[in-house]
Amino acid sequence: MPDEIIINNDRFTLYLSEEEIQNKVKDLAAQINRDYQNKVPIFIGILNGSFIFFADLIRQVTVDCEVDFLKLSSYGDAKISSGQVRLLKDLNCQVRGRDIIVVEDIIDSGLSIDFMKRLITKENPASFRVVTLLLKKTVARLDFPIDYVGFEIPPEFVIGYGLDYAQKVRNLRSIFRLAPRESGASSEKD
Ligand code: IMP
Ligand code: MG
Repeated sequence: MPDEIIINNDRFTLYLSEEEIQNKVKDLAAQINRDYQNKVPIFIGILNGSFIFFADLIRQVTVDCEVDFLKLSSYGDAKISSGQVRLLKDLNCQVRGRDIIVVEDIIDSGLSIDFMKRLITKENPASFRVVTLLLKKTVARLDFPIDYVGFEIPPEFVIGYGLDYAQKVRNLRSIFRLAPRESGASSEKD
């Protein structure tokens, strides 16, 4: 895996290696396995970004569980949030009375997870928790805790391991971050 990749003239540098990510996924699954003994949680993946994390996490989970998926859209093809969350695919499962674990790739502004929480908790689940691989804590505006966090990261644009840049590069096995422009100009995230 290279340490640096260029996409559309933007330079991205290696941030979290495949090994670091896989170790963290095992850690998160171990916590969930402990907390959900004798329960049958439903893991709800938020498409598209969480599909790789979801698949890796679920294969480290040893408690009986079910899975379902929701599709949200907020980013379009840009590097910054459009600030609007839309539901593109609803759940197929019955949430009432069940233990729900929402699986996110990354929480940035917190808008998507806030939208999700309201959508799911109005169906009266027995419990509602969130696991996210990445959390941009300094930008996320949340009035509830995130139960399982892989890595807290600075508010930078990251790609790979399910995270896209204009729908591409989701298949990278590691996570890369947008490098600052060498001219000294600020990145588009500012
Ligand atoms: P939020 O609603 O601002 O918290 O953003 C949530 C969604 O935006 C995530 O599930 C990702 O799909 C996407 N997203 C946020 N930050 C990034 C990033 O740095 N790279 C790629 N996608 C991102
Ligand atoms: Mg996402």
